[in-house]
Amino acid sequence: MWKGRFSQPTSQLVQSYGESVSFDWRLYAHDIRGSIAQSKGLLKAGIITADEQAAIEKGLLEIRHEIETGNFEFKESLEDVHMNIESELTRRIGPAGAKLHTARSRNDQVATDVRLYTRDAVDEIVAHIRGLQRALVEAAVRSGSAVVPGYTHLQRGQPVLFAHHLLAYVEMLGRDAERLGDAGRRLNVSPLGSGALAGSTIILDREFMARQLGFSGVTQNSMDAVSDRDFAAEVLFDIALCGVHLSRLSEDVILWCSAEFGFVTLSDAHTTGSSLMPQKKNPDVAELTRGKSGRLIGNLMALLTLLKGLPMTYNRDMQEDKEPLFDSIDTIKAALAVFAEMIAGMEVNEARTRAATSDPMLLATDLADYLVNHGVPFRSAHEVIGKLVAHSIAEKVAFADIPLAKYQEFSPAFATDLFACLNLETALAARKGIGAPSPQNVAAQIERWKGELS
Ligand code: ARG
Repeated sequence: MWKGRFSQPTSQLVQSYGESVSFDWRLYAHDIRGSIAQSKGLLKAGIITADEQAAIEKGLLEIRHEIETGNFEFKESLEDVHMNIESELTRRIGPAGAKLHTARSRNDQVATDVRLYTRDAVDEIVAHIRGLQRALVEAAVRSGSAVVPGYTHLQRGQPVLFAHHLLAYVEMLGRDAERLGDAGRRLNVSPLGSGALAGSTIILDREFMARQLGFSGVTQNSMDAVSDRDFAAEVLFDIALCGVHLSRLSEDVILWCSAEFGFVTLSDAHTTGSSLMPQKKNPDVAELTRGKSGRLIGNLMALLTLLKGLPMTYNRDMQEDKEPLFDSIDTIKAALAVFAEMIAGMEVNEARTRAATSDPMLLATDLADYLVNHGVPFRSAHEVIGKLVAHSIAEKVAFADIPLAKYQEFSPAFATDLFACLNLETALAARKGIGAPSPQNVAAQIERWKGELS
């Protein structure tokens, strides 16, 4: 493409070092869409005739069909997807093909292609997020009235409906989808027509071309337009954070299906066995996801690091944006899909959750609240219950089995109705403030999410 200025061919090593077609071939559909818009812009500006535009469009659509049916040969010697498609087009249709690149550079071309690709990817990821949210809401419904200890510091804290725990992840994923939607809106502007860095003396109707591509507007600074990869960094961040959420869910699932917790059972289809220990049933999907979240963070770091030292405008370093972007998109889509399946096959073991929540200590806060309701300042109530906890442990006696007279030695505010608050159902139902896990609230949240996800 640049043979005019050079007297030596490119070294073999440079060629294989610098090629990107082995990974950017997957931009082909977006590249072809961008080129058709370009050809329409050229027609509108009177640079090509209607016949030439028709030949370009037809040729590009044929090439796309051949790529999709596996009948197109990408050549490393043509470096990238853009030059592969353009040179094949010109080989087929002649001079009209050679006019396509008028007032265009690969710099605005690749920026356009990657935006289009990322825009589609965002929609696909959001659809996968919705799928996992639905699976979690359904699991919450299936878990019914199962109660688990809620933990802080991985120490038992207070009782919650298992559904409430699952819905916490539905919230996180909801923010992930929103963030991706924001990024999707911000990236939806067209760089096409920015040329190499300074536009062109041949004026194309950029807004017209942008509309052909479904962009909501055009970029306003040609230098920024060709060198901006903020949108890719944003999407990589959004994916990395979604990966972190999946990693936390993974950790919960791994704990839940250990013998120590035993709160859930995963289906055979979503676990693996051991080649040595016949009894094993391992939560590999969750472990792999926890591991892959590291890659997602790494991809974000790779892109930010590659961008930080770049002067204006396009630098070849930027070719390195694609592999991390593609990898993160592929990885998060796969993780979300397999997680949705795994969660759909996850069953709660109520015998184990009941055993865990029969720990009377889970209701220590409720006893403190009882004292507060009887006029004791919370700090004093906290101390009184702390002493009662110590007594309960030392004497190996549960709260429910301590006689009223003993309670009254700790605080005269205790009366017989204290025993009512030692009941798990009562304790849960009492947590009825906004966002708290009373069964009524949780049912309402399930309905809200069902509505949002339908
Ligand atoms: N393959 C290149 C990339 O992905 C396309 C842009 C090349 N532009 C250039 N001036 N060499 O960044």
